[in-house]
Amino acid sequence: MQDTGQEPDRHVAAGTLAVEEVAVETSLRPRLLAEYIGQQTVKQNLEILLAAARQREEAADHVLLYGPPGLGKTTLANIIARELGVNLHATSGPAIERPGDLAAILTNLEERDVLFIDEIHRLNHAVEELLYPAMEDFAIDVMIGRGPSARSLRLSLKPFTVIGATTRAGRIGGPLRDRFGAVYRLDYYSKDELATIVKRSAGILGVAIEDDAVQVIARRGRGTPRVVNRLLRRVRDYAQVRASGRIGAEEATAAMNAMDIDDEGLDTTDRRLLAAIVQKFASGPVGGAAVAAVIGEEIETIEDVYEPYLLQLGFLDRTPQGRVATERARDHLRTLGYEVPAPRRSDRTDAGLWDGITSEGRTEAVEAVETVEADEAVH
Ligand SMILES: Nc1ncnc2c1ncn2[C@@H]1O[C@H](COP(=O)(O)OP(=O)(O)OP(=O)(O)O)[C@@H](O)[C@H]1O
Ligand SMILES: [Mg+2]
Repeated sequence: MQDTGQEPDRHVAAGTLAVEEVAVETSLRPRLLAEYIGQQTVKQNLEILLAAARQREEAADHVLLYGPPGLGKTTLANIIARELGVNLHATSGPAIERPGDLAAILTNLEERDVLFIDEIHRLNHAVEELLYPAMEDFAIDVMIGRGPSARSLRLSLKPFTVIGATTRAGRIGGPLRDRFGAVYRLDYYSKDELATIVKRSAGILGVAIEDDAVQVIARRGRGTPRVVNRLLRRVRDYAQVRASGRIGAEEATAAMNAMDIDDEGLDTTDRRLLAAIVQKFASGPVGGAAVAAVIGEEIETIEDVYEPYLLQLGFLDRTPQGRVATERARDHLRTLGYEVPAPRRSDRTDAGLWDGITSEGRTEAVEAVETVEADEAVH
């Protein structure tokens, strides 16, 4: 049995969803484009796309949405279908196992319906091949029979719109990408936009919260609506149990401290990740697999959930040689009392890779990598 009163130990990163959260997310999800806060460029482009489709009384062009978790891709897909006044069929890349599964979905679509494919980068090859003609010509080729008598039959489909969502645009091949008429990237939200989202959510959840406390949450929200909504709920719990219900800046800050969320909105995993790079790999460059092994997280989780925000904050850099912790990251860790050894390389790209580092530091870093690689070889 799932204890619905408890959330997993991860408060900040937007990646994993608890049971409680799925229900709350649905209730907090904006339903119309006008309620969707931020992402101005995407919204403006979408308004035109949707208006044009409505005027022509045609299915809207296929739309690909990409960006880090929790920024509003699923929300936007639902809004698009609602604004078009059509049904939304939701599925995901890993859920469609065989081409036949996709064929069944496609032949059941009504004219102009939206087919939302979450995690579209995880479609398997055979399914993706079937999706190409479906998106391009609204037709699919299906095989009838087996063996020598097998023949291919072209089935035409009613015009429809695919909305693909992914956290990994880089994993989508050219042929698939080219079949989307519109490709929109969602960006991290500003503090002001997050504050607006917190206020809206507080209104829906019936939480009385002071403006100062809203700012405390927005500042630590990692630019991510899902994260601020999650923090808001935890702050509410904290205030209810420890502070007789009142939510001011003091209560919000105390709640953040209780969750080990620092001033930059980083949680323990973020800090372990940075500390590993700084301490074990002399601030990098270091490969993702090595960092993942040291902190015991999946490399996919690190790349999708943790790194994008650390890159955005300017705490990490990605170079062809691997991740590098920046001076800002080192400063942050130092302020928090971490031991911060000298970096192996300078942050400046013009500096030599091995400048300003003692040979001991270099040996240590190399040994750390070798230890990790040896560990990996064992598992
Ligand atoms: N622009 C927005 N305005 C207000 N709330 C938003 C906005 N975008 C997202 N949210 C809130 O954040 C939550 C998470 O958004 P959503 O599920 O759409 O993210 P996602 O990009 O699909 O994430 P994932 O990559 O994990 O699937 C929603 O439930 C919604 O309440
Ligand atoms: Mg989603």
